[in-house]
Amino acid sequence: MSHFSLKNGVLHAESVALPAIAGQFGTPAYVYSRAALAASLQEFLDVLASHPAGAGSLVCYAVKANSNLAILNLFARMGAGFDIVSGGELRRVLAAGADPQKIVFSGVGKTAAEMKQGLDAGIFCFNIESAPELDRLNEIAGQCGKKAPVSLRVNPNVDPKTHPYISTGLKEAKFGVAYDDAFELYRRAAALPNIEVAGIDCHIGSQLLDPAPFVEALDRILILISRLTAAGIHIHHIDLGGGLGIKYKDDQVQPTVASYLNPLLDKLAGSGLKVVLEPGRRLVGNSGLLLTRVEFLKPGEGKSFAIIDAAMNDLMRPALYEAWHDILPVIPRTGETRAYDVVGPVCESGDFLGLARPLAIEAGDLLAVMSAGAYGMAMSSNYNTRPRAVEVMADGDKIHVIRQRETVEQLYAGEQLLP
Ligand code: LLP
Repeated sequence: MSHFSLKNGVLHAESVALPAIAGQFGTPAYVYSRAALAASLQEFLDVLASHPAGAGSLVCYAVKANSNLAILNLFARMGAGFDIVSGGELRRVLAAGADPQKIVFSGVGKTAAEMKQGLDAGIFCFNIESAPELDRLNEIAGQCGKKAPVSLRVNPNVDPKTHPYISTGLKEAKFGVAYDDAFELYRRAAALPNIEVAGIDCHIGSQLLDPAPFVEALDRILILISRLTAAGIHIHHIDLGGGLGIKYKDDQVQPTVASYLNPLLDKLAGSGLKVVLEPGRRLVGNSGLLLTRVEFLKPGEGKSFAIIDAAMNDLMRPALYEAWHDILPVIPRTGETRAYDVVGPVCESGDFLGLARPLAIEAGDLLAVMSAGAYGMAMSSNYNTRPRAVEVMADGDKIHVIRQRETVEQLYAGEQLLP
């Protein structure tokens, strides 16, 4: 069931009419559905709870997809942990009420200060991506008088068949430890005084609609785990990363969480390994939309443009990945459609949210850019000195502001004139 639907000819978020949100808070605005967010996480929790290999498992939401405190807090209250990639994200999840023992720290470039921050907080695991990173963590843990729990992010060299910018598990990628080097690095980790080998992890890419590559990656990781066990190196948890895709477009089929997870859990049954997952997009992507207003129409012979008040700085995915987001009129009109390039006011030809979209619209109409909950606000910028959009959460018939619209004064508050 979609939590965004037409009621009496008007698009709603849960029971809140989008024009009411635009009237109260202005546009552009990110609008989320609390019920949609909760249902997405619950789908993971239910599948894990119904499989014997899911006992003791941990869903660590990948904060980078959408780091709003209200969303983090909602997931924390439901028992989720978090996958973080910076000291900033660590501060955020702690502020949102995260249990430190449910935090995994990913990323190829952790600084000494970030490692110390993670150690001080007592996080569950550091996902380590290279030999020098392991050495640095050993050194910092020594200085703190602690043993750092570690998992190596192994690169299984599997093709996730997704957009090259979001494929991470191929051997050409900057991510992870090469499969063939992982065994030796584990031996080294096991011998380091301030490191405790805890688990193993992999993340092969994002927006995967075919679950087969996940199985392929797991098979390779399981081979490595048996070699490690034979060498006396014990792995307690297996972190399968994130990457499960969502439906952005009508012709896409969104795999169920069960169809993705059950084959993986079947392979893990009886292994005694605790399962950790790092879903990002799947938990938030279809739980949010970007509400925007048409400023002007520029009909033309070759091309027609709908100039809207949202832009590439608000939602970068179309410009960066040529990503498709459905664009729906909030109050659909009858009458003839015209193919519009839906563009923002930013001075870049790449500033579009959709190209050649058949729409029956007039200036002043509201549009909803769909599936914008993941990597939307999180990747937004202030390019062209555009304050970032307000974020609101629909909750039944109520609406809550979860981040105020930025003011221009906030944007240059840290800047200074020369003497
Ligand atoms: N774990 C690790 C180590 C990751 O690098 C990522 C995403 C995730 C988990 C979560 O992946 P997800 O479940 O969201 O697919 N900005 C791009 C996506 C970049 C993904 C980066 N890593 C986009 O807008 O499509």
